[in-house]
Amino acid sequence: MLQAQGLSKRFGGLQALSDVSFQIRQGEIYGLIGPNGAGKTTLFNVLTSLYIPESGTCTFGGQALTGRKPHEIAALGLARTFQNIRLFGNLSAIENVMIGRHIRTRGGVLGAVLRTGATRREETAIEARAHELLDYVGIGHRANDVARSLPYGDQRRLEIARALATEPKLLALDEPAAGMNASETVVLRQLIEKIRADGITVLLIEHDMKLVMGLCDRVLVLEYGKVLAEGRPAEVQRNPKVIEAYLGAGAAHDAQTVPGGEA
Ligand SMILES: Nc1ncnc2c1ncn2[C@@H]1O[C@H](COP(=O)(O)OP(=O)(O)O)[C@@H](O)[C@H]1O
Ligand SMILES: [Mg+2]
Repeated sequence: MLQAQGLSKRFGGLQALSDVSFQIRQGEIYGLIGPNGAGKTTLFNVLTSLYIPESGTCTFGGQALTGRKPHEIAALGLARTFQNIRLFGNLSAIENVMIGRHIRTRGGVLGAVLRTGATRREETAIEARAHELLDYVGIGHRANDVARSLPYGDQRRLEIARALATEPKLLALDEPAAGMNASETVVLRQLIEKIRADGITVLLIEHDMKLVMGLCDRVLVLEYGKVLAEGRPAEVQRNPKVIEAYLGAGAAHDAQTVPGGEA
């Protein structure tokens, strides 16, 4: 479904991504992990064409992603959330979702502003669908609350609802559990499973290892912009290079030799 081939991205002297290749299959939950600064968000930004890579290509359903405008990416069926939540803070929850929906409708954003008869009817349908999506992510009771007044976990779920409003085939989530407590994370996990069960492929950046390992079919590990490992969670978890990247040099060795060692 999504194919990345040899992606490299530099910021001045910093090689944020080097020669990253991977494929996401339709219907899977694909995890992207790695220490802070590994290049995970940069990879999202390259996939969604916010950044242009120095080299490499990415395609989605056979169509090139690089160099496209954000609305074109969305129209192809790729939606994302942001590590630093990006909502319209002064608009209500329902309005935030409706904005996501507009790129999918004939009237478009301009029609919504001009408010012709056809767009008014469309607007009613959009609002109904936005309510459904808020219910779907579990914050239906928050519809009229101003986005920035919502608890952090609800803002994250609102961002997911807005992304779903574009009817994506692939939903990319950048650290959706960040700032959530344990019980919110359990609910989030159920939501991601529900999204996949409803036919949407998921790309998940996540720091919470328990969440990643329990949820993902396959995992890609980045370190210093390079692919360190890829595979099923159980394989990746046992990989000494991965243990070392997370726990520091020597940890993999200690884990194997020291009884009751930290790892
Ligand atoms: N717009 C940018 N300009 C300069 N450096 C950046 C930019 N975005 C990310 N970086 C750098 O690239 C590296 C990877 O960052 P990032 O992709 O955010 O990592 P991660 O999401 O894995 O924590 C970091 O060293 C970061 O400081
Ligand atoms: Mg990041």
